Amino acid sequence: MDKDRLDQIKQDFQEQINKIGNIKELDTLRVQFLGKKGVMTQFMKGMGKLSKAERPIIGKKANEIRTEIQESLEKVKNDIEKKMLEARLEKEKIDVTLPGRTCHCGVHHPLNIVTSELEDIFLGMGFSIVDGPEIEWVKYNFDDLNMPKDHSSRDKQESFYYRDDIVLRTQTSPVQVRTMRAQKPPLRIISPGRVYRSDEIDATHSPVFHQMEGLVIDKGIAMSDLKGTMDLFAKKLFGNKTKTKFRPHQFYFTEPSAEMDVTCFKCGGVGCPVCDNSGWVELLGCGMVHPNVLRACGIDPNEYSGFAFGLGLDRIALTKYGISDLRLLFENDARFLSQFN
Ligand code: DAH
Repeated sequence: MDKDRLDQIKQDFQEQINKIGNIKELDTLRVQFLGKKGVMTQFMKGMGKLSKAERPIIGKKANEIRTEIQESLEKVKNDIEKKMLEARLEKEKIDVTLPGRTCHCGVHHPLNIVTSELEDIFLGMGFSIVDGPEIEWVKYNFDDLNMPKDHSSRDKQESFYYRDDIVLRTQTSPVQVRTMRAQKPPLRIISPGRVYRSDEIDATHSPVFHQMEGLVIDKGIAMSDLKGTMDLFAKKLFGNKTKTKFRPHQFYFTEPSAEMDVTCFKCGGVGCPVCDNSGWVELLGCGMVHPNVLRACGIDPNEYSGFAFGLGLDRIALTKYGISDLRLLFENDARFLSQFN
């Protein structure tokens, strides 16, 4: 218990602090020297045994050394923290000169482009867009549309049945039924959507494809309204020079029924590969809504009449973009899809 002991403590401390590499080691060292049971504390506790003469001298020296130790610990702590901060800043350095990450912007699917275009045209003519379920009552998909009980499309081989009375809709026409049941005329709607038929997949067929349905019901609607509307639609879609022609056809839900052809938008009617050299391209089916359909949907055919039309969206997309294989629309190949910018 003397000056030498104090010098020894100081020397020990100095040796050890030089080896300190991190805050944890530093803390252990602090406890070892300044803690309650630490070397310095023990030394000071033992000072009571010193003589009166020695006590102030040794006490002063002890205080000095304790302060030195404290300051030294503090300084090393600051050094370590500074180094840690520098290391962190170095690690988190941002190189503002690096090129930014390119953001790959998606494009619209050709089918959606065509659908939006058709929607725009019909919205402009005062139609509204309605949606229908893809899982449909057989009643709405067939019965109420005046389809005969023995029609081939009702066959279990032709359509995807969930139950005897529920089928994946084979056409968008059941949306007509739903609309007439839900709303009072006048009605002016289109309804684009997915439809299902049990077809093998090839270049022109797919079990899933897309149609757009149209329906107009009001008092005094005549075939001339149908022809005028469809002709205007064709001109808006393919250009003002487009001509239309109506060929008689048969659909169960319309009477009379027709298919409408348009002059080929590629060659203008001269004849080219797109139109098989005929100058005409078939665009849609249409007709005056059959009285049986009106009645099935709660509309009095003596008071109201209307027309309906249906077209294949996939076919329009294929013709418009000169795509030779329907499967390309459904394969989600980005190399193909990214072309429709
Ligand atoms: N639903 C018909 C089909 O899938 C298309 C169609 C034709 C719809 C004439 C109509 C229509 O509304 O009037 O072939």
